[in-house]
Amino acid sequence: MYHHYDAIIVGSGGAGLYAALEASQRAKTAVLSKLYPIRSHTGAAQGGISAALGNVEEDKPEWHAFDTIKGGDYLVDQQAAKILAEEAIQAVYDLENRGLPFNRTPAGRIDQRRFGGHTRNFGEGPVRRACYAADRTGHMILQTLYQQCIKNKVAFFDEFQVVDLILDGTTCKGLVAVELATGELHIFAAKAVLFATGGFGRIFKITSNAYANTGDGPAVCARRGIPLEDMEFYQFHPTGIMGLGILISEAVRGEGGILRNRDGERFMARYTPTLLDLAPRDIVARSIMTEVRAGKGIRGDRKIDDYVYLDATGLGKATLMSKLPDITSFCKTYLGIDPADSPIPVLPTAHYAMGGIPTDVHGRVVLDDKGTLVNGLYAAGECACVSVHGANRLGTNSLLDLVVFGRRAGRHIGDYVKQADPPQVPTSAADPARAWIGRLTDGQTGPHGGHIMEEMQTGMMEKVGIYRNAKEMQAAIDQVQALRRRYQSVRVQDRSKPFNTDLLELIELRNLLDLALITAVSALNRQESRGAHSREDFPGRDDTQWLKHTLAYLEGDKVRLDYKAVDTSIWPPKPRTY
Ligand code: FUM
Repeated sequence: MYHHYDAIIVGSGGAGLYAALEASQRAKTAVLSKLYPIRSHTGAAQGGISAALGNVEEDKPEWHAFDTIKGGDYLVDQQAAKILAEEAIQAVYDLENRGLPFNRTPAGRIDQRRFGGHTRNFGEGPVRRACYAADRTGHMILQTLYQQCIKNKVAFFDEFQVVDLILDGTTCKGLVAVELATGELHIFAAKAVLFATGGFGRIFKITSNAYANTGDGPAVCARRGIPLEDMEFYQFHPTGIMGLGILISEAVRGEGGILRNRDGERFMARYTPTLLDLAPRDIVARSIMTEVRAGKGIRGDRKIDDYVYLDATGLGKATLMSKLPDITSFCKTYLGIDPADSPIPVLPTAHYAMGGIPTDVHGRVVLDDKGTLVNGLYAAGECACVSVHGANRLGTNSLLDLVVFGRRAGRHIGDYVKQADPPQVPTSAADPARAWIGRLTDGQTGPHGGHIMEEMQTGMMEKVGIYRNAKEMQAAIDQVQALRRRYQSVRVQDRSKPFNTDLLELIELRNLLDLALITAVSALNRQESRGAHSREDFPGRDDTQWLKHTLAYLEGDKVRLDYKAVDTSIWPPKPRTY
């Protein structure tokens, strides 16, 4: 089937929905999503959205921008971070006006809580900057924006999986997608395409990410010659449920929860005496692993699956029930404990990609270090890299990123489509996707995709995780390359057309394999430690050699690397202390 729109938004999380809402004011807009929209992974951002409202104590956008840049270990593009912090305030009020039920102060204002790395007066101590709706902030954003999109008559193609991007030189003309209900290929011709497909945490074995987080947007772009930026920077959230990876929000620590080792010691006091448990995530995750490696995990036998405790027993049942009800329920369901009575066993969990499809501050996709644009191609949210997170994102800045930059991209699309020519797309544009899917379903037998997935996830977790070194990362690259070769003969077991999840998983597996390779190659090449990229063989940050963004181009079996400058126009880089 063939469709014509001014704008196609791929992905129905916060960034996609906000972009659709804005674009649809002036452009015929459709959202294409592999999920039913309110199941999008934005719902997993539990604890809050940051904005220097100053509702409960003094705060300023300038402090917020500074914290974001310092938290990102100075790999952040500083003018973009300034936009993020300054537009945060209106963005939160707009969400409130659109119906988002934020928690309130006794005076009826939006309440705010503490979160890691957010400080008053350039690092003096934690500040209450995170606006929140209990521990369901992301869910509430999804519900609010989806309702607004329906009200504004945005068209939705639910349960459509994107498989290819249609480019004519450096102009985007649309995309190709599979309708999951029928197995049919559809061509969407469009003047503008925006990718807002979220993250790719499923390259790792233990992750807070949903099964759907398979990096479809970045992978499709990479295979069409678009570089991916700063892919070596992958965030491990300090507190996933031990062994499962399910997120236990940083809001637990924001409300007063404490990390403890086997001796009951509040060990973060040794690592970050000013911010304690509310240091940035890269530091807290490494501190936890350092305790475990030193035999100070709960069992103390230095096993890989040792863990620490997140102690929320001091919060009291009333606070837990009113401010952290989902966390309380997760602990009961998955661990059989009540966090009011027992500490929560936690370990870091793969959570968030700082890198992704490079964009400018309007969401326009950028091809190289000179800022060459791809006409009509946009990206926003976790799958994009406007570089407001640099080497390490602060908690609550992800929801903010997708609202601020999703909205900006949607507005720009509204302008762009007014002057862009309607694209002419031949039906042969679907041929490459048809050939790929035809091979996966050609009746032959091949290796099982599930085994390839399992090996990739384990290898990436063990070798390209929190601590990295050249030998292990090279081994991971060799392993992923071998798995990509095995993928060439993989085949579906189920040959039916409607809702063929076997086929969907093989499509997703290819995306994950490509992104795992790009992540590992980018990481091996960066010979320093910065933010979430922590190398045992290069333990220091090296601004002389490495204060630059990576651009990784997937070229068949190879990844070609290039670099581009970081915008440090406001605050000169300094060593990070907390
Ligand atoms: O900890 C959390 O609630 C996660 C939020 C985020 O990733 O920003």
